[in-house]
Amino acid sequence: MLQKIAVVGAGNVGATAAQRLAEKNLARTVIMIDVVDGIPQGKGLDQWESAPIEGFDTRVIGTSGYDEAAGAELFIVTAGIARKPGMSRDDLVKTNAGIVGSVAREIKRVAPQSIIVVVSNPLDVMCHVAMKESGFPRERVIGMAGVLDTARYRSFLAEALDVSVEDIQAMVLGGHGDTMVPLISYTTVSGIPVTQLIAQDKLDAIVDRTRKGGAEIVALLKTGSAYYAPSAAAVQMVEAIALDKKRILPCSAWLTGEYGLKDVFCGVPCKLGRRGLEAILEVSLTDAERKELHASAAAVRETMVAIG
Ligand code: NAI
Ligand code: 2OP
Repeated sequence: MLQKIAVVGAGNVGATAAQRLAEKNLARTVIMIDVVDGIPQGKGLDQWESAPIEGFDTRVIGTSGYDEAAGAELFIVTAGIARKPGMSRDDLVKTNAGIVGSVAREIKRVAPQSIIVVVSNPLDVMCHVAMKESGFPRERVIGMAGVLDTARYRSFLAEALDVSVEDIQAMVLGGHGDTMVPLISYTTVSGIPVTQLIAQDKLDAIVDRTRKGGAEIVALLKTGSAYYAPSAAAVQMVEAIALDKKRILPCSAWLTGEYGLKDVFCGVPCKLGRRGLEAILEVSLTDAERKELHASAAAVRETMVAIG
């Protein structure tokens, strides 16, 4: 258990993540920070009042400043805005880069030894902003996307095969967007290659649905995007770090030559433990998967260029 975890952004993902952290007793205190005064305080109090029912002792405290987060061991960054009518994608990227940049500077000020788990979109580029503005090493800035994308892929496969989600092993790499790379060569059902159990056209349809998984939820909700699975994914990463579990999870990491990629955040298999990103695993890929991974990293770079 950690002493203090802070969640920045008390919107859908942030507030749900805070509640999940508390219910899992992953820290003594969870600090929820948002610029809209009253929202983090109200949600934090509401969550704390659920403690006697749910049986957790984690204090959840909402605030509009960073003082309460001083010395936190870990931050989940979910602050940002959604695209509004008339706003280009580049406008959104620039606005969120400004927000994530200011958040990262505050984190550096109050908790220079902390680990940052980035959730804000566009994910891989926001990780870069957070790393640059905090000055933290790559071991302490990690992006959440692959865990979510893989969970979507696993849930669709479990449904199609009518088996437990627990028996689907898989990994989705690449940037968080349409170019993500579900690794079919590493997808198994209790060790059985998935290609032995499902027709290729059905598998292709599941891969396609996974790539569009975020948009599918947005189309249904109409206002806002997914948050139950995203918050669960972020908290799974936090749990791996807080409990030093050495879990191998697909996360966005700053690459320095791995997979032939350099100076870009991209989803790859990562070992997460108490020191944050403890290793990147380089697994062999088929030629097609490697090509797709490089194309996905190129798409991330394009967005990096948009914010200069
Ligand atoms: P939301 O709109 O419900 O919450 C965002 C919160 O950030 C709002 O409460 C807002 O007041 C706050 N905020 C804005 N500027 C801030 C600042 N400077 N400091 C602190 N708080 C600030 O949005 P939601 O659904 O919670 O999503 C949050 C972010 O996570 C979005 O960028 C979204 O696209 C992204 N996301 C990423 C996923 C991933 O797989 N990486 C999955 C789901 C969401
Ligand atoms: C998602 O994949 C919006 O990135 C978010 O649901």
